[in-house]
Amino acid sequence: QKQKFQITTFSHGLDNLLGGKGVPLGQITEFCGVPGVGKTQLGIQLSVNVQIPRRMSGTEGEAVYIDTEGSFIAQRVVEMANGTIIKINESITDENELPLDIETVLSKIHYFRTHDYIELLALLKTMDQFLKEHSMVKLIVIDSIAFPFRQDFSDMTLRTRLLNMIAQDLKNMAETFEIAVVLLNQMTTKFGNPGSGSDKATLVPALGDSFNNKCPNQIILYWRDDMRFAHLIKSANLQEKTIQYQITTNGISD
Ligand code: GTP
Repeated sequence: QKQKFQITTFSHGLDNLLGGKGVPLGQITEFCGVPGVGKTQLGIQLSVNVQIPRRMSGTEGEAVYIDTEGSFIAQRVVEMANGTIIKINESITDENELPLDIETVLSKIHYFRTHDYIELLALLKTMDQFLKEHSMVKLIVIDSIAFPFRQDFSDMTLRTRLLNMIAQDLKNMAETFEIAVVLLNQMTTKFGNPGSGSDKATLVPALGDSFNNKCPNQIILYWRDDMRFAHLIKSANLQEKTIQYQITTNGISD
């Protein structure tokens, strides 16, 4: 049987929530949450951690980071990368092996900035070719998928059609190239049907049911008081569960 690779988040709780070792390759995983909850932090952490060497059970890959909001902060990447680099370098036992440095880690995160949905669609259309030329890429992060479709969309039918197309393209990419696709998504308020007895307002992942149905793994990130939680709301084979995690200067942890 083919070995299933996963990308660690550095939180055992979160890795367990995702099936043991982190975000799975070959599939789409969606993290949703309100602004400021830490989605970008997780996206950056995964972009660094995808580079962990194979001898440490890592995927030794590269990342594509698609920034639709302008929230990628290079200084934060350096801080998180330093945390990971220390762990990797401490584990070197072979004297011929070179320690990992920050320039190398940064050079393996391919950063793209898109400013509207047209740029995002155009970029995704060229992504197949990019992945063929960069076979070490094992992760694509889109931060966030919702933003370009919330700003300037009045035609909801077109929006649904484009989102379905994107979800299908990403699913194909994940499977063809055996990479993890991580979608960071916002939350939106949904109202139950008046008179149905469930007319309460609830927070649900943005972009609607038809898009969400194409994402096999869905996790909601939220906070209560000073504590951060991740809640698995959807998975093909894992149980619904909630865990606690932290964000520190060095990145994500238990
Ligand atoms: P939007 O992009 O606005 O949707 O937010 P987001 O969900 O992507 O949030 P983001 O990843 O920007 O995370 C912000 C959170 O990370 C805040 O709660 C900060 O407290 C936390 N954070 C960011 N940098 C640090 C840091 O250096 N140390 C610690 N401890 N926390 C940090």
